[in-house]
Amino acid sequence: MKVLVTGGAGFVGSFLCEDLRRAGHEVRIFDNYEPQVHAGSQSNIGALLKPDGTPLKGVEIVYGDVRSPTQLDSALKGVDAVVHLAAQVGVGQSMYEIHRYVDHNTVGTAVLLELLASRRHAVKKLVVASSMSIYGEGGARCADCGIITPSLRSGAQMKRGEWEVTCPACGKTATPVATNEEKPVLPTSIYAITKRDQEEMCLVVGRAYDIPTVALRFFNIYGPRQSLGNPYTGVAAIFSSRLLNNNAPVIFEDGDQTRDFVHVSDIVQALSLALVKDEANGQVFNVGAGIPISIKEVATTLSRKMRRDIAPQIENKFREGDIRHCYADIGKIRRYLGYKPKVAFEDGVSDLIAWVEEQKAEDRFEQAAAELAKRGLAR
Ligand SMILES: NC(=O)c1ccc[n+]([C@@H]2O[C@H](COP(=O)([O-])OP(=O)(O)OC[C@H]3O[C@@H](n4cnc5c(N)ncnc54)[C@H](O)[C@@H]3O)[C@@H](O)[C@H]2O)c1
Ligand SMILES: [Zn+2]
Repeated sequence: MKVLVTGGAGFVGSFLCEDLRRAGHEVRIFDNYEPQVHAGSQSNIGALLKPDGTPLKGVEIVYGDVRSPTQLDSALKGVDAVVHLAAQVGVGQSMYEIHRYVDHNTVGTAVLLELLASRRHAVKKLVVASSMSIYGEGGARCADCGIITPSLRSGAQMKRGEWEVTCPACGKTATPVATNEEKPVLPTSIYAITKRDQEEMCLVVGRAYDIPTVALRFFNIYGPRQSLGNPYTGVAAIFSSRLLNNNAPVIFEDGDQTRDFVHVSDIVQALSLALVKDEANGQVFNVGAGIPISIKEVATTLSRKMRRDIAPQIENKFREGDIRHCYADIGKIRRYLGYKPKVAFEDGVSDLIAWVEEQKAEDRFEQAAAELAKRGLAR
């Protein structure tokens, strides 16, 4: 089949396109080469080009913006499936560049869906990248009250440095549990709201127009090619670019907050399964490794593996909207699609580090942190 991949020149998109091609599909990459992501970094799609720089057979590269109906309409010609990955990706930045995030993510998706709803096309599958960020705080259990849906920690609690989530009914400290797709969503940033928009809009329009649609809620992705120039993306990329520049990784709160780190190759596995399997249609799925890892552990694993004897700098500060714990229950995608994460964090980071060491990463962390502080979004 012929697959249009919006955001196909990005981190996830470039690996997906390589994989699709290996599986015998044709790919059309549609990307506007967002400068924040691509400036100064090597092209992600080198493996899809011939030595003279032209695309390999079965690969097309279209420069375009999902907000442009004209550009997107012509990119949709002759494709059998769409994987919609194009997005502005930065939680902190979304809290002040609100218009920009809503424009690229929500409006961009609206443009795509309106074309699918109103023009002749042959699209028989739509897969959209959603995000764990839509959950807000992950699932938790109170020893007395059972499974609870925690709300965002209050500013007063954070100022006291009481980082753990508490039970909304009795106030006891709660224990994190795996988050499943049934957990009510509670986006705590503009980015997260736009990801929820993308997910819900695609599912609703897909259903109305009989276009089988799948939303994948990616957890924290890491791996080679994650933009090092973008200070707002994944923590593993940020920490490794800090270490590469002999700077300490900066940790908010106390470092014991946890996330679910999933290697980009497992994300590609999930995307490929969602594309071809009918069982996926109309569903949302978590895509993670299913294992919580603390942020402190990420920093120490990276510095050990990069042989940089630099301890993380634990700030005991906090960022507006940050959650404490969230890791995926991956039972649903395992049952429906046979997804099984293959890369353990310890091995996966070696892969990231080998790549980071070949890059000249400009460390823009301080600048990004200053932007948040100036606006009172990190205290
Ligand atoms: N990386 C993660 O940890 C993570 C987690 C959850 C969800 N996601 C989602 O996965 C998708 C891919 O993320 P990624 O990590 O590969 O990010 P990325 O920034 O590397 O890739 C996104 C690509 O989209 C392109 N793009 C941005 N705006 C565009 C527009 N208006 N028109 C056309 N192209 C545009 C960018 O140039 C970039 O190449 C995104 O939708 C993101 O929200 C990522
Ligand atoms: Zn309780």
